[in-house]
Amino acid sequence: MSSRVTLSVFKADVGGYVGHGSVHPDMLHKAEETLKEAGKHLLIDFFVTNVGDDINLVLTHREGVDAEAIHALAWNTFLNCTEVAKSLKMYGAGQDLLSDAFSGNIKGMGPGIAEMEFEERPSEPIIVFMADKTEPGAWNFPLYKIFADPFNTIGLVIDPKMHSGFCFEVLDLFEDKSVTFSCPEELYDLLVFLGAPNRFVVKSVFTKNNEIAAVSSTQKLNQMAGRYVGKDDPVLIVRCQSGLPAVGEVLEPFANPHLVSGWMRGSHHGPIIPVSQKQAIPTRFDGPPRVIAMGFQLSSGRLIGPQDLFADVAFDRAREKALEIADYMRQLGPFEPHRLPLDEMEYTTMPQVMERLKDRFK
Ligand code: F6R
Ligand code: MG
Ligand code: MG
Repeated sequence: MSSRVTLSVFKADVGGYVGHGSVHPDMLHKAEETLKEAGKHLLIDFFVTNVGDDINLVLTHREGVDAEAIHALAWNTFLNCTEVAKSLKMYGAGQDLLSDAFSGNIKGMGPGIAEMEFEERPSEPIIVFMADKTEPGAWNFPLYKIFADPFNTIGLVIDPKMHSGFCFEVLDLFEDKSVTFSCPEELYDLLVFLGAPNRFVVKSVFTKNNEIAAVSSTQKLNQMAGRYVGKDDPVLIVRCQSGLPAVGEVLEPFANPHLVSGWMRGSHHGPIIPVSQKQAIPTRFDGPPRVIAMGFQLSSGRLIGPQDLFADVAFDRAREKALEIADYMRQLGPFEPHRLPLDEMEYTTMPQVMERLKDRFK
């Protein structure tokens, strides 16, 4: 057991209410009840919420990352929530636990996990971002802006503690290999990869002193049905202030909504809307994709908060802009670039249609 604190965020879709839109309150209560009871000798603190149809568990403890007991606790919590989901006949109950409740959707890659262990600073502000209807690569653009773009993060220019820059660990989802870039020196190399978020994703960001600054729930994609699928609704933890980007620098990239994949049937691009937790119920065309930001101060591992950071009126224009982009994208209907390229779609009828028409191709 360590004197350091570990922050573990787990997420899973174990049943949607209604369709793929949200999580029933009874499931969230069950998650809280389970963590309170089964976690009482293990956890320092916990917080349960949802974004869209995903349940998010924010846990603090001293067991370190990859601790079996913590992972088992999260798994059992999701299993218990699945029981509730089944009793209410929620949509796709247990879908992310590779259970028998198949929803006609081939994803099902198990829960997402982002964890980091660190020495708690005299004051430790953190933000947990959680998204629905998108992919792990959705964090590439904001993470680049937060930790490498001086037009976003003025601290890179004028804070002596940040002036040397940050290191980005980038994972190749197809090959399951990672590479680390030291920035700003290797900025242009970094961007070659980050600009392809379907394949290359930021796994973590470190200071030049090797202090952890950010971790995402990115993981190797399963290859299913001969295709890569990975619209697994990611989470991201970012530590802030005192030599790390300020809370406002960490939120700033979301003021200009970027396009991500994962909308409707995991097969469309759309803008990611920063919303309050209450607004995190995707409806239109099962979306558009959205992101919430839960801010906490850690106090000896206790989660003081959350502050629902995107509830601020300062993000109202971002929301309006995202809705305009959504209108524009929607009018493209089944055409790219609204619809994803063939090899990235989660759903396709191409093999069947091709088979039926094969004799007509001359
Ligand atoms: C789920 C999602 C939804 C579903 C769509 C079809 O995260 O993105 O858009 O893909 O509602 O779902 P099924 O195939 O379960 O009817
Ligand atoms: Mg779902
Ligand atoms: Mg989801």
